[in-house]
Amino acid sequence: MKALVLSGGKGTRLRPLTFTCAKQLIPVANKPILGYVLDQVASTTIKKVGIITAPETGQFVKDYVKDGSNWGLKAEYIPQEPLGLAHAVKTAKRFLGQDSFVMCLGDNVTGQGLNTFVKKFKNEKLDALIILKEVENPSSFGIAQLDEKGNITKLVEKPKTPMGNLAIIGTYLFTNKVHQAIERIKPSGRGELEITDAIQEMMNMGFKVKAEILNSWWLDTGKKDDILSANAKILDSYIEFDVKGEVINSTLDGRVKVEPGAKIVNSTIRGPCALGKGVVIENSFIGPYTSVGNCSSIINSNVEYCVIQENVTVKDVERLEDSLIGKNAKVSRNQRNRTIKLHIGDFSEVEV
Ligand code: DAU
Repeated sequence: MKALVLSGGKGTRLRPLTFTCAKQLIPVANKPILGYVLDQVASTTIKKVGIITAPETGQFVKDYVKDGSNWGLKAEYIPQEPLGLAHAVKTAKRFLGQDSFVMCLGDNVTGQGLNTFVKKFKNEKLDALIILKEVENPSSFGIAQLDEKGNITKLVEKPKTPMGNLAIIGTYLFTNKVHQAIERIKPSGRGELEITDAIQEMMNMGFKVKAEILNSWWLDTGKKDDILSANAKILDSYIEFDVKGEVINSTLDGRVKVEPGAKIVNSTIRGPCALGKGVVIENSFIGPYTSVGNCSSIINSNVEYCVIQENVTVKDVERLEDSLIGKNAKVSRNQRNRTIKLHIGDFSEVEV
């Protein structure tokens, strides 16, 4: 079996961060989301992974994953114009050959590994296995309708009038029969070759397609608030108290991870929190569910429920909450008057 990890797409909903970074590389708990996806692939017996990349951001993905050896995997890159998930599979046909494969969306994280799904797929000799999870906004996802025995009766991509609330999450298992179905489908209303349509077509063709319900959490990190939720979930699930940096006259409460070279002075840190290498926190409060990337400084400020990337400076900010701050950004309070002064990139969002 092989793995196909989709790390292309446009990332328009995460601009401006996606002008200089692939959306799959936005860090949660100081590690790119794609890293968690590759961890899950690495925990199976799969060794060969094909990584779909987009023209604008492919190099960033390559710089991060390299040859895959950091995960014990052999990575191969497959450039693709973002024309849909089924189009990505079609583009990867040469890499996939006649093999079965697990397909993972590079911006989806779950709390459950892949092994139980691989086992079910093989044991039951399935042609496709999809994983489902209940959602509150079914119009934003591929939706599956099941009968009382749990068999799939219908699949629709982002239905305007949803026939249920079971969303198809970003983990799929296929035999090579999926290629026959992809040849038969047409682009959807949004102009993409949809994998949901291809799976429906596999069912129409009489192939063996089943669904399994995920019994853990799942997050699709397409927008800012999803990144903040994923950060909170990962901090909650994986962070333990582990302090390697210097702590001077400060209080560390709960599960706080502080990497080497970080310095915390006259401050309070309340976990779960992750502070990267060389971070400086001075006269500040860092509240729960915050990640601070390498070499960032937070001075005279209160920060809570935030993802702050590398080399950021936050200074004299009374309260910074629910925020996603890109690399090398500076956020500070204008001391002299109440004027707001901004120097921000295209498509930024500021709430004052
Ligand atoms: O998150 C689960 C949902 O993912 C499913 O419920 C939907 O059925 C499925 O269509 C997909 O919907 P999205 O609209 O959220 O997909 P998105 O465009 O965000 O792309 C998902 C990932 O695949 C993302 O990491 C980018 C990558 N991608 C996307 C496209 C369209 C590619 O690599 N190539 C592409 O052509």
